[in-house]
Amino acid sequence: MFIKGLSLRNFRNYPELTICFNKGINILIGENAQGKTNLLEAIHFIHSLQSFRTQEEKSLISISFKDALLSAEAERGGSIINVSAFLDDKGKRVKLNGKKIGKTSEFLSRLFAITFSPDDLFLIKDLPSERRRYFDRAILPHSPSYLKTSARYDSILEHRNRLLKDIRDAKKGADTGSLTPWDEQLIEEGTRILLKRYQFVGQIKPFLEKIFQAISKSSKRPILIYETQLLPPPEALSSRGESDIADEIKGIFRLSLAEKRKEELRYGHTLAGPHRDDFQFLIDDQRAKTTASQGQHRMIILSLKLSEAALYKEAFAEYPVLLLDDVFSELDEIRAEALIEQIHDMNIEQVFITASKKESIPSSSKGCSFYLIKEGAVKPYNS
Ligand SMILES: Nc1ncnc2c1ncn2[C@@H]1O[C@H](COP(=O)(O)OP(=O)(O)OP(=O)(O)O)[C@@H](O)[C@H]1O
Ligand SMILES: [Mg+2]
Repeated sequence: MFIKGLSLRNFRNYPELTICFNKGINILIGENAQGKTNLLEAIHFIHSLQSFRTQEEKSLISISFKDALLSAEAERGGSIINVSAFLDDKGKRVKLNGKKIGKTSEFLSRLFAITFSPDDLFLIKDLPSERRRYFDRAILPHSPSYLKTSARYDSILEHRNRLLKDIRDAKKGADTGSLTPWDEQLIEEGTRILLKRYQFVGQIKPFLEKIFQAISKSSKRPILIYETQLLPPPEALSSRGESDIADEIKGIFRLSLAEKRKEELRYGHTLAGPHRDDFQFLIDDQRAKTTASQGQHRMIILSLKLSEAALYKEAFAEYPVLLLDDVFSELDEIRAEALIEQIHDMNIEQVFITASKKESIPSSSKGCSFYLIKEGAVKPYNS
């Protein structure tokens, strides 16, 4: 898929913009605070109906204006898709091919973008909850029911935690027997989450290794691990079918809840389940969190994004649009070249890359389209 044209009115620092884009790699060059990230944010918004920078959509409207309009023409699988989003203080109104859409979920899966923002670099060092949130979101395009499963799990967890507290505080009607139905629901929905996460990590692993080695120009092996107490050992999983693994997980989950029951009642909190899990990046068996260099952190996250794009292509026979913000800083010339080469090799249909310094753009970018961004205006630019 790719975006052919974009129009903005009163979006961030863009009063009025109409621009056409090419397939392939589009490089957006501009000094600090000129509107590079804002433009990526607009493209991301068109693909996902949300910003990657803020939940507060009002901040997308230009200061001292009341509303903003974004519209774009995109192409997917040979069909044209027109999207427009009108933002004001009441929220957003979205049209898809001229027709109003009620729920964002009606739009999702039409267009898709994968975005690298320098904020993603915190992922490796962040709290486990941030990593869980990241991977849960990454799973979504591959499993639309995952959103409902996660919501159900969260609600069961909340009920169960309240009940544990009530039992601890000896509230009337609260006894350990009333936990049993909640345990079973927790195990049911939790197993679905565990299985999806396990499968996702398994699918992304081979891409991650290949892409990391290509862009880091090294033979070091990155590994992504799903850390949980509730999966059987890997050797017990390799030749098993999905329902077998699910049964196995349910058994371990049940046992774990039983073992932790006393402690749970003391804390008033559920102590086993996918809400306690984590994801870990290793490079050659060393924890990236504590040993990887700045550049390696960046290359792991970039490899993860490119791997997600590759996985999406495998599932939907089409690449998502790739948005890479300020990607070259901290990469030396060789690794920056290798990144561009990797994008070329993968043949991703459309990529947007921002850079603040012309010198940071690798020479292998010759076939790319260049745009100059200055004070909220964009012009095609011959490098
Ligand atoms: N709602 C808004 N209305 C008007 N201007 C805004 C709004 N939100 C952000 N801006 C301005 O847009 C400008 C450009 O921001 P942007 O993040 O796109 O810069 P950038 O080109 O990516 O710079 P850098 O290289 O420093 O990352 C900033 O000066 C910011 O103050
Ligand atoms: Mg920026």
